[in-house]
Amino acid sequence: MELERVQQIASLSKCMDTIPTDYIRSENEQPAVTTFHGAVLEVPVIDLSDPDEGKIVGLISEASREWGIFQVVNHGIPEEVMRKLQQVGKEFFELPLEEKELVAKIPGSQNIEGYGTRLQKEVEGKKGWVDHLFHIIWPPSAINYRFWPKNPPSYRETSEDYAKRLRGVADKMFEYLSKGLGLEPSEMKDGMGGEDLIYMMKINYYPPCPRPDLALGVVAHTDMSGLTILVPNEVPGLQVFKDDYWYDVKYIPNALIVHIGDQIQILSNAKYKSVFHRTTVNKEMTRMSWPVFLEPPPEQEIGPIPKLVNEENPPKFKTKKFKDYAYCKLNKLPQ
Ligand code: OGA
Ligand code: NI
Repeated sequence: MELERVQQIASLSKCMDTIPTDYIRSENEQPAVTTFHGAVLEVPVIDLSDPDEGKIVGLISEASREWGIFQVVNHGIPEEVMRKLQQVGKEFFELPLEEKELVAKIPGSQNIEGYGTRLQKEVEGKKGWVDHLFHIIWPPSAINYRFWPKNPPSYRETSEDYAKRLRGVADKMFEYLSKGLGLEPSEMKDGMGGEDLIYMMKINYYPPCPRPDLALGVVAHTDMSGLTILVPNEVPGLQVFKDDYWYDVKYIPNALIVHIGDQIQILSNAKYKSVFHRTTVNKEMTRMSWPVFLEPPPEQEIGPIPKLVNEENPPKFKTKKFKDYAYCKLNKLPQ
C-alpha cells in the first residue's frame, strides 16, 4: 500500500536522521532559520473571570487588532471536559491505520470531513508533517456521524459535551468582539449566520519528526473561519507572525487559544486582523491540537458590517457567499 499518512512515514523514519525531501521546506520557511529566539513579545493572555467586563472587552479588542490571536483562561469549560476531549482524540489516532481509515475522507469529494492528510493544494509540492480528522460538531442538523470515530466508544459523548460547553464561550467571544467595535452585542454573531453558525472540529496529529529544523506541521496560513478556538496538548509548536517575526505561542495548561479568522477580519472591515500562523514539529514528542473553526453557513453573504463603513473607511473587501470564499481559498484563487 502507498504510504500516505504522515504517522506511517514517521514510524518508519524513527531511527533515521533524515526525512523524505517532500517534507523539507525551502530555506525561507525552515523553522530553524526563521524563528525569533529570546521572544520579547508574547501573545496576550486574558482572564475571562475578571468582574470588570469593560476591561475584558478592551483587552480582547486590542489583542484582535494587534495580534489577531490571544489565549483565554478561566473560560468556564471544566478541565475534565478538556482532558477527556484530548484523551479520546489521542486514543483514536493511536488505533491501527485500518481502523482510522474507516472514517477517511471520501476521495474526490468536496466535503473536507473525515480522516485525512492533505487539505489544500500544496505550494511547490511540499507537504506538512501532520495528519488530521475533520467533522462538524454543531448544529445537530449539520452533523454527519459517518465521520465520527466509533472507537473509542466514548468519542461521541465526549465531543458532544465539549461542543455544548464551547458554544457558551463562542457566544461570549462574539459579544466581546462586537462591543469592542461599538456594535450591539449580537451583531458579530448575526453577521456570521447567527444560530446557523457551523462548528467544524479538526484534530491535528503531528508525529515526532527526525528533522524538526527542516519541516513544518501546518504551513503558514490564516484560517478562513470567523473565529477558531483551539485546545493544544502540552507540546509547543504553534507560531504566529507579527512585525516580520515568527513567535512561539506559550503553552498554558487549560487555556483556549482564540484565532481571528478571515471572516471576522472582513466583517470588521480589517479593524480586527486574521492571524498568520504555522506550526513546527518536535523530534521526540507527538504534538496534537483540537481547533474548532466557527464558520458561517455556506450561503451566508459576508462583507464589512455597514455601520463600520463610511467615507474615511471605505469597504476593504468584497461581499460574497462564504462557500465562494472557501472555494477560492482552498484552490488558491484570488478573492
Ligand atoms: C490549523 C492550525 C494550529 C495548531 O489547523 O489551522 O493552525 O496549533 N493549527 O495545531
Ligand atoms: Ni490555522
